[in-house]
Amino acid sequence: MNGAFDDWMKTVQAASENDLSSFLPAATVVPTKLHAAMRYALLGGGKRVRPLLVYAAGALFGADAAILSRAAAAVEMIHAYSLVHDDMPCMDDDELRRGKPTVHVAYDEATALLVGDALQSQAFLVLAEADTIPAPRQVVMLRLLAHASGSAGMCGGQAIDLDSVGLSLTLAQLEQMHQLKTGALLRAAVVLGALAGKDLDAAELQALDTYARAIGLAFQVVDDVLDATADSATLGKTAGKDAADNKPTYVSILGLEPSRALAETLRLDAHAALAPFGEKALRLRELADLIVQRKA
Ligand code: IPE
Ligand code: IPE
Ligand code: MG
Ligand code: MG
Ligand code: MG
Repeated sequence: MNGAFDDWMKTVQAASENDLSSFLPAATVVPTKLHAAMRYALLGGGKRVRPLLVYAAGALFGADAAILSRAAAAVEMIHAYSLVHDDMPCMDDDELRRGKPTVHVAYDEATALLVGDALQSQAFLVLAEADTIPAPRQVVMLRLLAHASGSAGMCGGQAIDLDSVGLSLTLAQLEQMHQLKTGALLRAAVVLGALAGKDLDAAELQALDTYARAIGLAFQVVDDVLDATADSATLGKTAGKDAADNKPTYVSILGLEPSRALAETLRLDAHAALAPFGEKALRLRELADLIVQRKA
């Protein structure tokens, strides 16, 4: 237990919940079903790892709180949209998410589709409406988020994931899939948080990218391990689904123990990459530990 880290985490999670709520239309605004479903998908659940990364990276360069809150909300909205679509019958066909029925179950498929679309647009709106970021840096941030979300990032990884059912990928192919479907948005969270503070020089960007690539891959390796080892009640989503669906994962290709060992190696790589930032990187180091050691 690390009391100071836990307190910091709870504070950021509570602030994020508040921000996410205020950056969404109220459920009473027309179209009310869509707005209620967007709020259902985004609020009241989730570990908020991406907002935590935004805030932790923001601490490196004393980022402005208003910019951080918008950057954190934008990445979490993209993430929540990716989960809504990931769970749809045409993708993973899952009925449980964040301890609740998935959006297409609680509402209907068309609503789930639109919730994802609208959350994605809302993410870019929230970042574009930040009025205290110097405009050139704001464009860099918007571009970064778009790149991480699209076919060169999360959507690209999801496409590879769906095309890989029943196949035995090489480790290089598996790593590429994980880096895209999960790593890209986690990297965006880290770099956006740092950019909320200042323009980055090449060395800073390189160090952050090395850290983010390590935790990005570790996150999905651990997701695969938990899918194979934890139960649905603990995860708040359906456990054992990767094997049931014949998905290639780190567990199916590398095995359970080597996957755990890889996650631990990546945790140490992440720590090493933060050396240039010294004490200011404390929360980023602790988040690397959390990502690898989490139980849900
Ligand atoms: C789950 O992400 C999907 C992946 C990208 C592996 P999280 O484990 O961050 O899910 P929440 O946000 O806590 O629900
Ligand atoms: C999901 O990967 C990644 C994205 C949503 C982009 P998974 O399909 O493994 O995520 P879970 O296990 O359903 O959360
Ligand atoms: Mg999936
Ligand atoms: Mg899934
Ligand atoms: Mg999974």
